[in-house]
Amino acid sequence: MKLFLDTADIEEIRTIHSWGVLDGVTTNPTLFGKTKGMTYDEVLQLICSITKGPVSAEVVADDVEGMLREGRHFAKLADNIYVKVPMSENGLAAMAGFRAEGIKTNCTLIFTANQGLLAAKAGASLLSPFVGRLDDINEEGMTVIRELVEIVTIHELETEVLTASVRHPRHVTDAALAGSHIATLPFKVFQQMVHHPLTDKGIVQFKRDWEAARAAADDSARKETAKVG
Ligand code: E4P
Repeated sequence: MKLFLDTADIEEIRTIHSWGVLDGVTTNPTLFGKTKGMTYDEVLQLICSITKGPVSAEVVADDVEGMLREGRHFAKLADNIYVKVPMSENGLAAMAGFRAEGIKTNCTLIFTANQGLLAAKAGASLLSPFVGRLDDINEEGMTVIRELVEIVTIHELETEVLTASVRHPRHVTDAALAGSHIATLPFKVFQQMVHHPLTDKGIVQFKRDWEAARAAADDSARKETAKVG
């Protein structure tokens, strides 16, 4: 399973890349809005210089021509750019256009398996169902992941299910068990996945025991030296 980082923050991307677990990055206008001092193009180019995995760049136009114009521009920034297109009637037409031009797309804002099926047929390389936002409105986000993975598998569709809007580590485990090809995680969820109270406590205990054992060994060596002397 591939793990993407859901951020436009360069330091966060550098950190997760340094752990050796970064397969790609997803950005959106909200995440870009949290960065400072760089244009969206500059942020995207910097991200693409850190990871060679897919980097999603989201269009904001809502007409087909506008989406195509923005997407073509993003696609020229780096080879690993995936144009993120919202699920809509115009979005489907734009994704079909991008497919004809050989530009990879990530269909975003998917909330049902049927939306995912349409996006796959229109040529989206990645399908992004939002599990957290569904859970937020008392629905079961993971059901869409399970259904969509099954549909993609049964019909051998050339696309990948990317679990998005991840809120906590349990979402990652459930997405992996459901066969989701990718999950995109906020930085905090990567950190939460690393830690367990028993792991952290065990590290402290092993260090303390090692230091005590070294001190005891040094003490007994000192006593031996004193006896010989
Ligand atoms: C990623 O592609 C999505 O834009 C992102 O996961 C949305 O997450 P949110 O629901 O926490 O904003």
